[in-house]
Amino acid sequence: MTATLRALQADITTLPVDAIVNAANSSLLGGGGVDGAIHRAAGPELLQECRGLGGCPTGEAKLTRGYRLPARFVIHTVGPVWHGGTRGEPALLASCYRRSLEVAAANGAASVAFPGISTGVYGYPKDEAARIAVATVRESAAVLPAIAEVIFCCFSAGDLALYAALLGAAPA
Ligand code: APR
Repeated sequence: MTATLRALQADITTLPVDAIVNAANSSLLGGGGVDGAIHRAAGPELLQECRGLGGCPTGEAKLTRGYRLPARFVIHTVGPVWHGGTRGEPALLASCYRRSLEVAAANGAASVAFPGISTGVYGYPKDEAARIAVATVRESAAVLPAIAEVIFCCFSAGDLALYAALLGAAPA
């Protein structure tokens, strides 16, 4: 079964999916942006659980429960900081999407929503990040039958247009 991929404009903390992905930092102890929004919505138990995880390297992903969120799980991943694209950023960003889906599949999370990892504070160019996100999710979901639905949760109309164009195009 091939997974359904779709893009929508929403606040990711409101999505009733099995897992939402958090664009965290390597400490996993919270921050601003979507990280801050997820911790605010999940409540203090989320930080409590994160404290026991011992951080997360860039490109890796770790699972926690969702607590007060509608989502069952939060998958925390750490994207690369954009330094111009010559320090392995593309591969590390792809790894965030791949590892997050692998962690989701291993924990029975069939529906997964991603924010635009690294495209806020970490400065990754949105168009290039969206291209990597869609290509990596297509490739990973094809070999992870447990994944039924992937949502690219956009926080602006501009981001949504980027993903809609990429998803409308036939897989390369
Ligand atoms: N729902 C969906 N998307 C959101 C939300 C939300 N509630 N809030 C922000 N976003 C979008 C931003 O518009 C951006 O496109 O998430 C994307 C990621 O932006 P950041 O949250 O800034 O994450 P990132 O660029 O990966 O930087 C990570 O920021 O918050 C800190 O602790 C975090 O240090 C880490 C760094």
